[in-house]
Amino acid sequence: MNYDTKTSFDLANLKVLVVDDQEDVRRGLKRLITTLGCEVEMSPSAEDALKLLRKQPIDIVFTDLKMDGMSGEELLKEINQEWTDVMVVLITGHGTIELAVDCLRNGASHFITKPFDNKEIIAFIERAGYGILARRQARDNASKQKSRTLIAADKAMRRVMELVEQVAPRKVPVLIEGASGTGKDLIANEIHNHSPVYEKPFVAINCIALPDSLLESELFGYKKGAFTGALKDASGLFEQVSGGTVFLDEVSSMSPLFQGKLLRVLQEKKVRPLGSDVERPVDFRVISASNRNLEELVHKGEFREDLYYRLQVMKISVPSLKDRKECIQALAGHFLKTTAAEFFYDEHPVPELSPATMEVLLNHSWPGNVRELENTIQRALIICQGDKILPSHLGILDDSYVAESLFRQELTSYEEGKQQAIEAFQREYVQTVLQRTDGNISRAAEMCGLTRAALQRIMRKLQLEPGKVTQ
Ligand SMILES: Nc1ncnc2c1ncn2[C@@H]1O[C@H](COP(=O)(O)OP(=O)(O)OP(=O)(O)O)[C@@H](O)[C@H]1O
Ligand SMILES: [Mg+2]
Repeated sequence: MNYDTKTSFDLANLKVLVVDDQEDVRRGLKRLITTLGCEVEMSPSAEDALKLLRKQPIDIVFTDLKMDGMSGEELLKEINQEWTDVMVVLITGHGTIELAVDCLRNGASHFITKPFDNKEIIAFIERAGYGILARRQARDNASKQKSRTLIAADKAMRRVMELVEQVAPRKVPVLIEGASGTGKDLIANEIHNHSPVYEKPFVAINCIALPDSLLESELFGYKKGAFTGALKDASGLFEQVSGGTVFLDEVSSMSPLFQGKLLRVLQEKKVRPLGSDVERPVDFRVISASNRNLEELVHKGEFREDLYYRLQVMKISVPSLKDRKECIQALAGHFLKTTAAEFFYDEHPVPELSPATMEVLLNHSWPGNVRELENTIQRALIICQGDKILPSHLGILDDSYVAESLFRQELTSYEEGKQQAIEAFQREYVQTVLQRTDGNISRAAEMCGLTRAALQRIMRKLQLEPGKVTQ
């Protein structure tokens, strides 16, 4: 099961606006850009484009330079003032190339000449798009996690918090290891927020999402002409973070080549932008995270040992949720409150977790860790109609039981097989629930979402006795 709720690097999340007074140009570009999955809007004039920009977020604007009324150059100026994140690409004919080059100095990102070179346009959107999505994810993560409270209600997590407080004021590299969903992002944010540079940028880079070439241009920057579409110099995130924190998420997925390049930056505190001979000084603290054991990867020769020692000057290991059950109650209570605050419109009383529900939560193995618990509570809160969250609202009991019992079926007639499967499911389900409640039928009934009488009926049919199943 996938408990990941992170933003994906799908170009479908990108919105492009094409501004041109010629309908065939608008349509042609839209057709081409749509093949990448991006959403494309069209405007016949710069005035119309401004109206559209005020109404909805746009990532990249392709605009003709010469149009009746407001020109593409004027549109660029307006966009530069009001929507600083929007990239502007100019569409030029032969007569306007010089003007387009001028516009590059005034903030345009790129220009394309008619007739269009489709490959160049696609390459530009892919590169620019991944950059936009990477920066958006970094921003979203930072602001989402900043406002999140880290619950440390068990011994292991309290120890993690002690380490966080010890390392936060020092500019040492920290490596956070733990399974997916254990809270590594949250911990990285805590370190930054407790550090003296908490007001400086915190930039998260998901190394798994970006291919090497993009990782390099995003982090190190590039020089004009370094690759097709690099029409002007650009600084990388390592430079832009100026004194803040860079969070390298999923470091284990970096290629050996990039590991070497990163090591040089960490050792020399300098970056060489792509296509440049000149190194530029950088200043940042690095926090990295991995859900694989990096030391093991070093032994297997899959991760550079020298880089490993650079990254793990301080190592924080976050245990999986199944090994820190003492904190499940506090976490569940916390997610109930935060989810209700987020989802409920009015002063709706927050439903409680029934004792049986709490028992199911404590006994579940949580392969998706805290993220799975958070998702489970969110789902339960939405499904639950009354003031108590019951085990049946959690959605973590049924599927495996049905699947397991069906799997064990021998081939008989369909009806007979179905009957056997139902009985096998009922037996296994009821036995498990009775075991979990130490044979207490009322609590077991509550856990199943059945009345006490209905549960007893099933038990009689299956000749189950509460005392026997708990032995
Ligand atoms: N101790 C905690 N207290 C409160 N919320 C937590 C805690 N640990 C994790 N969470 C929440 O659980 C979710 C998953 O956490 P996070 O994204 O930090 O995990 P991760 O270890 O980085 O996962 P992945 O390896 O998949 O990137 C987030 O919504 C986070 O806020
Ligand atoms: Mg993470």
